[in-house]
Amino acid sequence: GTVVLAYSGGLDTSCILVWLKEQGYDVIAFLANIGQEEDFEAARIKAEKLGAKKFVEDFIWPSVQANAVYEDRYLLGTAIARPCIARSQVKIARRENAQFVSHGATGKGNDQIRFELTCYALYPEVKIIAPWRIPEFYNRFLGRIDLIDYAQKHDIPVPVTKKAPWSMDANLMHISYESGILENPKTHAPADLYLMTKNPEDSPNTPDVLEMEFTNGVPVKVTNVKEGKSKDSPLDIFSYLNEIGGKHGVGRIDIVENRFIGMKSRGIYETPGGTILLKAHLDIETFTMDKEVRRIKQGLGIKFSELIYNGFWYSPECDFVRHCINKSQENVQGKVQLSVFKGQVYILGRESPKSLYNEELVSMDVQGDYDPCDATGFIRINAVRLREHHRLQGVSTIK
Ligand code: ARG
Ligand code: SIN
Repeated sequence: GTVVLAYSGGLDTSCILVWLKEQGYDVIAFLANIGQEEDFEAARIKAEKLGAKKFVEDFIWPSVQANAVYEDRYLLGTAIARPCIARSQVKIARRENAQFVSHGATGKGNDQIRFELTCYALYPEVKIIAPWRIPEFYNRFLGRIDLIDYAQKHDIPVPVTKKAPWSMDANLMHISYESGILENPKTHAPADLYLMTKNPEDSPNTPDVLEMEFTNGVPVKVTNVKEGKSKDSPLDIFSYLNEIGGKHGVGRIDIVENRFIGMKSRGIYETPGGTILLKAHLDIETFTMDKEVRRIKQGLGIKFSELIYNGFWYSPECDFVRHCINKSQENVQGKVQLSVFKGQVYILGRESPKSLYNEELVSMDVQGDYDPCDATGFIRINAVRLREHHRLQGVSTIK
């Protein structure tokens, strides 16, 4: 049969490709381009022709609308890439009449779940070959040495660059680093690990000031205020935010997280553009969104993040949540001014035709359409329960 392999060009998937052929399959290697390039300009040019535009519009933008963050810190750069890659992989499998798909994810991680749930959701009859879960494969390749030997034996070009002692996953949104020397959670990341961001200690001593314009909860324009330069296509906007965030060392995190499979893992991430966007979006959203709608939407954002992390992008519940979140963004419109400096994003101001902010209502200097006497009753009513609690519990409970 024919198998479409999600191929990265790295050692693992290169060996898997040859191994699958050895097993008698016809192999179609599918290399997804979602902007995994260290050089931003090269990434932009390459990405334009390929899949990165769709990655931004179909996966990064919904995550921005949701303020999607897993366990309060991880911006999900790998997790949203997997359904994006698998979607294209399935499209090719269907077109080529391939019964099988394959990937190089390990049997311990999240990625296997994300790839395979997406494939099953979009191509229910598909058969999946996960070599790292097949004993004949993993008993043969016990470590990198075995893979390198096999590669040399089969004339597979081994990546010439000295392999960093950790595993990386890179795309337009982020780079993640885990395993290898990072498996000890106490070990600090070496300074030269980070490829997308400068160390904030070495970043410029003058900030970049940006104005970000949002419509429907997604950025439609970003202007560098001092330079007077603007970007206005999704890919250009996101690439530019990566460049500015990278230059100032924005968006580095080092965390221990909970995998879906039930184990904790240590991961280091850099998400420069995504981090700037998160801060800016949070600001314009709170400025333009009703308080109670926002509370419900915040809960949906957490749900959405967990669904993405666990691989359920293509599920009825995720579809529902995404539509609700998109609906909540109707009035999330306006401009945020911010400065990017020394690893931080500082909000400077905001304006919006959909602002819910009433300067007169909140002012300490004018009365507005508000009677301060009403607050007396409001507070007294809220105090009913507290006073009862005190009466029943007695003074003894007060520390
Ligand atoms: N722990 C992160 C996640 O689950 C990153 C996974 C990195 N994947 C990889 N194949 N290196 O999203
Ligand atoms: C892998 O297991 O292939 C990478 C880590 C993960 O998927 O969580």
